[in-house]
Amino acid sequence: MPKSVRDITSMKNSKKITVITAYDYTTAQLCDRAGVEILLVGDSGGMVMLGYENTIPVTMEQMCFFTEAVSRGRKDAMVVADMPFMSYQASKSQAIENAGRLIKSGADAVKLEGGIEIKETVRSIVDIGIPVMGHIGFQPQTTTLQEGYKVQAKTKDAALALIQNARALEEAGAFSIVLEMVTKEVSKIITESISIPTIGIGSGPDCDGQVLVVHDVLGLFEKLKPKFAKRYLELAGDIVKAITSYKSDVVSGKFPLQEHSFSIDKTELERLRKEIA
Ligand code: KIV
Repeated sequence: MPKSVRDITSMKNSKKITVITAYDYTTAQLCDRAGVEILLVGDSGGMVMLGYENTIPVTMEQMCFFTEAVSRGRKDAMVVADMPFMSYQASKSQAIENAGRLIKSGADAVKLEGGIEIKETVRSIVDIGIPVMGHIGFQPQTTTLQEGYKVQAKTKDAALALIQNARALEEAGAFSIVLEMVTKEVSKIITESISIPTIGIGSGPDCDGQVLVVHDVLGLFEKLKPKFAKRYLELAGDIVKAITSYKSDVVSGKFPLQEHSFSIDKTELERLRKEIA
């Protein structure tokens, strides 16, 4: 049975929440089997799966496609799908319609980037019964446009603004909030000052949970290696090694062997040869 919003919110102050991104069926199955509580179909999929420079070009169609695959692969984890850039900013009705499309694609909740400025949008999605995860601090869809990759909440004023954003999202009914690249001290203050779980990425150890991009955890993505992402494997190198061995076996005739081949019955083969002759 997939985790519910209540399962996640009840973990605050008792057990850390583990979140990892997934964009396809096989990876979702493996991450689910590893016991993570939430599979995040992040719009980071635009970068690691589709090769975009950033998350801005990602479309609703692509997010629905990833979400369908991930939801088919999960058993126990909650599936949260990112609302891509410009899928919720134009109007509340646009936001509700697109949140609904992600739920119909198999998500249990949606994630939106933004604070006070999207409070009413979050409220309107929550009011129709769709759970919302907030996302503040570094917001890849817009912070990159304004100032590039930069640690957030390094001054008192910036920290205060972030605390207000977190409170606004809580008031609007969000069930949890991602804090991205927020100074660890301010993450701790935010975590202690709201009643819903915070999920950190590059935001220190005091958040209620952590999220990482699965390609970073597995060492698959080499274009960008954020300081905050712990690489548990270096699969990119292993994959290139394996494919190089495959190529060399094909060229040398070491692959395929008998064990990888299928045979036709001897009499059928005789008959075939005769007919051809
Ligand atoms: O798209 C994504 O992967 C995310 C995480 C960085 C939180 O939003």
